[in-house]
Amino acid sequence: MATSRGEFSSRIGFIMAAAGSAVGLGNIWGFPTQTASNGGAAFVFVYLILAFCLAYPAFMAELLIGRYGQANAVTSLQKMSRTKGHKQFAFIVGFGGVVCAALILSFYGIIAGWMMSYAIEPVAHFIGAGNSAEWVVSQSLTRNILFTACFMFLTIFVIRRGVEDGIEKWSKRLMPLLIGLLILLIGYVFTLEGASEGLNAYLNPDFSRVLDPGLLISAMGQAFFSLSLGTSVMVIYGSYISKKENLVSLGAQVTLIDVSIAFLAGLLIIPAMYVAQAQGVAIFADDGSLISGSGLVFAVLPALFDTMGSMGLMVGFAFFVLMSVAALTSSISMLEGPVSYVVERHNIERKKATTFIGILIFFMSVGIISQLGVMLDFVATLATEYGQPIIAMLCCVFVGWIWHRNDILKEIQSGNEKVEHSIFWKIWPWYTKFVCPTAIAIVFIHSLR
Ligand code: TRP
Repeated sequence: MATSRGEFSSRIGFIMAAAGSAVGLGNIWGFPTQTASNGGAAFVFVYLILAFCLAYPAFMAELLIGRYGQANAVTSLQKMSRTKGHKQFAFIVGFGGVVCAALILSFYGIIAGWMMSYAIEPVAHFIGAGNSAEWVVSQSLTRNILFTACFMFLTIFVIRRGVEDGIEKWSKRLMPLLIGLLILLIGYVFTLEGASEGLNAYLNPDFSRVLDPGLLISAMGQAFFSLSLGTSVMVIYGSYISKKENLVSLGAQVTLIDVSIAFLAGLLIIPAMYVAQAQGVAIFADDGSLISGSGLVFAVLPALFDTMGSMGLMVGFAFFVLMSVAALTSSISMLEGPVSYVVERHNIERKKATTFIGILIFFMSVGIISQLGVMLDFVATLATEYGQPIIAMLCCVFVGWIWHRNDILKEIQSGNEKVEHSIFWKIWPWYTKFVCPTAIAIVFIHSLR
């Protein structure tokens, strides 16, 4: 374990990397449709409260575990453990997170591959390669394997370079690109007919639904998925932050960026759907709800781009590049979880470990692709609806019940001397001990029904 560890070279480097992990397909695709089908602004309102009051404290737990342990999730948790039982528990929680990250990457890579293929389609059209354009957006085994491989290649390429040269450098390049594209697309969509109706549907609150348990569960699940909790990723990112940084405010800034980008994505997707409707594209499913999931991204939006003529080629290209970039900054963090584990625990060199694990996860993706209909949903549900909440909850339990209170306080104080006067200091330790695990457990049990 004598390998020298990477570290983010700057505050902004960490913020971009962690926000890159958090901002992904979940924000740009999941959040807007959930909002539309859950009472518009009422969902946004509940989401904001849950993101800051529940997901943020759990997020802080993971960051603090990592920075205290200065290592991967398993080693960090074991450093806090005082008995053999604790150490075993630490292994289960930490390793569970690593496996969960690998599982998420195995299906996320397939969907990200589709995003890339849809970004290539307008280019192929533009250069007159109509047949290829059609091929890249038609379901086929070869297409799926090829594009998943391309996407995994990019992910491996970044992670092989390590923390500063890989994760930090690329997040600092890609995140501004993502935000720029998002704002450009919003600006354009707002000039089109139907956008204001969409804006209304997005921002018109139906407050009668605020206490609807279904809405609460969706908002909470969305918040946890979005902050990449329960996957060991935020623990390892926390371990790359200098002890001199104020973690409490860094965590809050990342949460704020994550929430803001989800909100911005809503300003793009929902109005775009109503613009599509004004062009005669069906945007409601049979049960009256807005079309969501893959139907939205791969049918409704491309149909909208088709109605825009040559401008549609550019808009479609920009949109799917946006999606691919969002996916890439998330996927690199998913690969970093397992890679850092193997590098630190088994003393394998980073480049080798990255290639090996990347290829292993690619083979898992191929397994899923071969049975796409059943496997994609199965793995996604297993990892995000079971794995993530359970492990995030266990991390809170670990911090609240096993980690020494004095050590926790010392870690919070590191880089932040004045914290003793803040509400965070007064509330958070208690909150993480009782409120977070209970709330996550309640939501989890509800979602099983
Ligand atoms: N936060 C990502 C998104 O919104 C998805 C995600 C879930 C994730 N779990 C993760 C990313 C673990 C990295 C690591 O799309």
